[in-house]
Amino acid sequence: MGDGSRLPVIDFGNMVAGVLGGVGMDPGRLRGDLAARFRDAHAEVEARREAGEMGFFDLPADRVLAAETRRVANTSMRECDAFVVIGIGGSALGAAALRDALLPPSWNELDDETRGHAPRLHILDNPDPETVSALLARLNPARTLFNVVSKSGTTAETMAQFLVVWRWLETALGTETVGTRFLFTTSPERGTLHELAARHDIPTLPIPDAVGGRFSVLSPVGLLPATAAGIDIEALLAGAAAMADRCSTPDLAANPAGTLATLLHAADTEMGAPVQVFMPYADRLAGLAYWVQQLWAESLGKALDRTGRRVETGPTPVPAFGAADQHSILQLLMEGPRDKVVVFLGREVPGKDITIPTPFPDTPDLVYLGGHTLFDLLDRERRATAEALRREGRMNMTVMVDRVDAHSLGALLMLFQIAVVYAGEFYGVDPLDQPGVELGKVLTCGLMGRSGYEIPSIPPPDPRWRV
Ligand code: PA5
Repeated sequence: MGDGSRLPVIDFGNMVAGVLGGVGMDPGRLRGDLAARFRDAHAEVEARREAGEMGFFDLPADRVLAAETRRVANTSMRECDAFVVIGIGGSALGAAALRDALLPPSWNELDDETRGHAPRLHILDNPDPETVSALLARLNPARTLFNVVSKSGTTAETMAQFLVVWRWLETALGTETVGTRFLFTTSPERGTLHELAARHDIPTLPIPDAVGGRFSVLSPVGLLPATAAGIDIEALLAGAAAMADRCSTPDLAANPAGTLATLLHAADTEMGAPVQVFMPYADRLAGLAYWVQQLWAESLGKALDRTGRRVETGPTPVPAFGAADQHSILQLLMEGPRDKVVVFLGREVPGKDITIPTPFPDTPDLVYLGGHTLFDLLDRERRATAEALRREGRMNMTVMVDRVDAHSLGALLMLFQIAVVYAGEFYGVDPLDQPGVELGKVLTCGLMGRSGYEIPSIPPPDPRWRV
């Protein structure tokens, strides 16, 4: 399934000793001990997958779920000009990655005709009252659909905003019709949203049990907002399926997710680089960089390994954006501590390009730019930065797609998801859980006075330690 020739390619030459100078990965190890270790990790991931624990692998082939998502989108979207996702973390970042990559820039500012009468797409994740009130003030309640996305149905940020919106709609439209402005994406069998959906006849799409929040972008969590905005989810799923297929081999040399995981794990645990900078040179991939950060951090940052031993492990993923951050974080990457590895994300061709004109032919400081395109400049900056880092002996690699489209994005999303579960094996942790996040959620409920979540009160700030 899928067109293998269009899959992303990882160029890791600048991680390899010899190319990089004295430091870097001994390439012999990629054929030796690391290849053998990957074979074991691959077998373990396959076993967990067959045991039904890694549902994200199966999403691209789930035709029933994709068809149901399309049906719900098509029936609900009539007379709707704004679609608002209410969710947080894994229930929002995937939709944001899809929006950034696959809708035209400034989508919400385009007029109806230019948007093909598809709705504007908003995402409410942070429960900041200034953001929420500003958005509600701009929306027409009768022409807006709110997609509440929460697997647990208990996340305080999401549920609080849901309650605010419910009351706002009730006031504007009346109690009888308020339910018609919602779509829920939640657990198929349990939780508050599940119960409310039944009570108020609210269309609901499932997040399969075996699909965790940050692995849910190719479930209705990402597919419903994408479909609503007119994104080609078939191409997205085909790209993801093609990448899953490519990564089905236990041969490290042929498995891009295995290679990514092996190199980043070694960078952290053997080569002194626990800080991992994900740096796209395409504004469209900004959402992807934030999505990768969450995927990496929540999956790999763990106190205990799978045997219960305290390990307090995990790399620190940091998004950065080329070329703008060449004027910000790059100085640190080039000359600061050698504790970082940079993963550049690039594309062969942009969706659009602009030729730089030569209105001042007598000005040598400007004339060299004329005749190139803006993409020439941006992409050469990516290549120049990678090379400059290499010359300084600083590890970096590049994930290239031919262009940012639904197929390549699906492939990238699958690449990083598979890589992180392999990395989980290397670290010896469970990449599918997030006990630290759960504790924060429990304490928030306690502070908000939820019954059953009582906690000893948090002491007020000590005036001796304030200035
Ligand atoms: O990846 C995860 O599991 C988390 O980031 C969750 O997606 C996030 O906490 C939101 O949880 P829920 O979908 O239950 O509201």
